[in-house]
Amino acid sequence: TGVPGTDKERTFIAIKPDGVQRGLIAAIIARFENKGFKLVALKMLWPTKEKAESHYADLATKPFFKGLVAYFSSGPIVAMVWEGKDAIKTGRVLLGATNPAAAVPGTIRGDLAISVGRNICHGSDGPESAVHEIANWFAPEEVSDYPRSLDEWIV
Ligand code: TYD
Repeated sequence: TGVPGTDKERTFIAIKPDGVQRGLIAAIIARFENKGFKLVALKMLWPTKEKAESHYADLATKPFFKGLVAYFSSGPIVAMVWEGKDAIKTGRVLLGATNPAAAVPGTIRGDLAISVGRNICHGSDGPESAVHEIANWFAPEEVSDYPRSLDEWIV
């Protein structure tokens, strides 16, 4: 369970502080739930600067890093793990392009955001970052492995 490339692939999805402040929690969760992914972990937390830095460690040399960390730790986020076939790649399709100005309507950012510095949501960009990010925000016992009625077709 949770192994990338399997039907139980897992991705880390977060509703960033602006998504929480704008009241978009339910709308964003609905996109993933309606798509068919399974929610296996969920919590609200206020990221420390240090946790935000470790989350975005691969961007440490970017000019926008300091502002990004300040934004990500500016208020509570909703941290989630979603599971299903191609959850990482398809999760990013649901989010839309990083810059909401380029994100296609029908995607979360395409429908609900304007600015790259306030793009309301995060999703792991590959198998390694998914593993790193899930471990950064969740203890193993906070992630639930459970069956849903739609996991197997009823015949
Ligand atoms: P990145 O990992 O490239 O995008 P994504 O979130 O789609 O995986 O960048 C992380 C965040 O950094 C991005 O969501 C918004 C912010 N960011 C900026 O503020 N300015 C920029 O020029 C870029 C590329 C990203």
